[in-house]
Amino acid sequence: MSTVYTGIGELTTNDPEVDGGDLLARVPDAALVVEDGRVAWTGPSDRAPAADERVDLGGRAVLPGWVDSHSHLVFAGDRTSEFEARMAGKPYAAGGIATTVTATRAATDDQLRAGLRRHVAEALAQGTTTLETKTGYGLTVAEELRAARLAAEVTDEVSWLGAHIVAPGVSPEDYLAELVGPQLDAVAGHVRWADVFCETGAFDEEQSRAVLLAARAAGLGLRVHGNQLTQGPGVRLACELDAASVDHCNHLAPADVAALAASDTVATVLPACDLSTRQPLAPARRLLDAGAQVAIAANCNPGSSYTSSVAFCVATAVLQMHLTVAEAVHAATFGGAQALRRTDVGRLTVGARADLHVLDAPSVTHLAYRPGVPLTHAVHRAHRSD
Ligand code: NIG
Repeated sequence: MSTVYTGIGELTTNDPEVDGGDLLARVPDAALVVEDGRVAWTGPSDRAPAADERVDLGGRAVLPGWVDSHSHLVFAGDRTSEFEARMAGKPYAAGGIATTVTATRAATDDQLRAGLRRHVAEALAQGTTTLETKTGYGLTVAEELRAARLAAEVTDEVSWLGAHIVAPGVSPEDYLAELVGPQLDAVAGHVRWADVFCETGAFDEEQSRAVLLAARAAGLGLRVHGNQLTQGPGVRLACELDAASVDHCNHLAPADVAALAASDTVATVLPACDLSTRQPLAPARRLLDAGAQVAIAANCNPGSSYTSSVAFCVATAVLQMHLTVAEAVHAATFGGAQALRRTDVGRLTVGARADLHVLDAPSVTHLAYRPGVPLTHAVHRAHRSD
């Protein structure tokens, strides 16, 4: 079954092979053919080949679905009052995570599943077609395994974040032994990634390295939450261990920026989280100027960033972090795919997954020009098995 989409006012392909000075490799007045869930052809509308079905998009812009490489969606409970206190001046700290751990442990599988599916559907309706999500609100062998299994029901991009905080009531030494032993053994077959919150109040450099090395030996890819609240060792450690991504990056020394620029580790910035925690915005402009790879993600979670809107993050990156629209859109599509070490998503080139985000706008510029306006007209997502 093939479908040709015509009348595309502006097609963002993100084709890395096109060297026309446009990061997004955009095609005006374009058409795109989808066959069996994959992109089969792209080019000017007047040269579009025939297909089984024809859909005229009436001049709308089409871009790859968002690749949201950072979320924490296996959770229960509510942290509205923590948010209110923060907006009244109380600082964000890692300890708030324990509130969600208590609520999550008390929830049934069906309650967790319902929340998870609701948030994934909410993200999809706004154009997110690839979504990473993490464990990290269970913090026991059984609870982390439960979270990993539930997350795997909705995405192939599951990260084990047993090292989110030290489990309440357990000593740091005992918890570290559990992490690198039975907890990792239990989850390893259910997740693609291991993630560590390397931060004051969570895990220090030595503890983080121990978890990441054990996870790598178990065959998992690596991710790090780093330099969110302090100029800590997270970025350095992520680059040293060739982690796919280090996320947050609010407090960077010049040496951190240089290390990222010299590495394959993507710096994932989380604009909504920065605003919601009143942290200084991550220096995305500085990172790009230095030559680092940058991704933008929503970081949907009940504590630090309760939004699934990547469009909001893109607009914020343009309006407040001084990225161009092309840089921000690229970071939330192609960059997200790089942060997940994927080449089949985040681009609309022949052979890529046909994950299409159709805007009710003639160009992606409207994502920042009309901030806060729901511009998603339609989302077409290839099946998970395609
Ligand atoms: O990515 N920084 C650590 N983890 C989450 C926050 C989780 C929470 O506060 O519940 C984050 O922002």
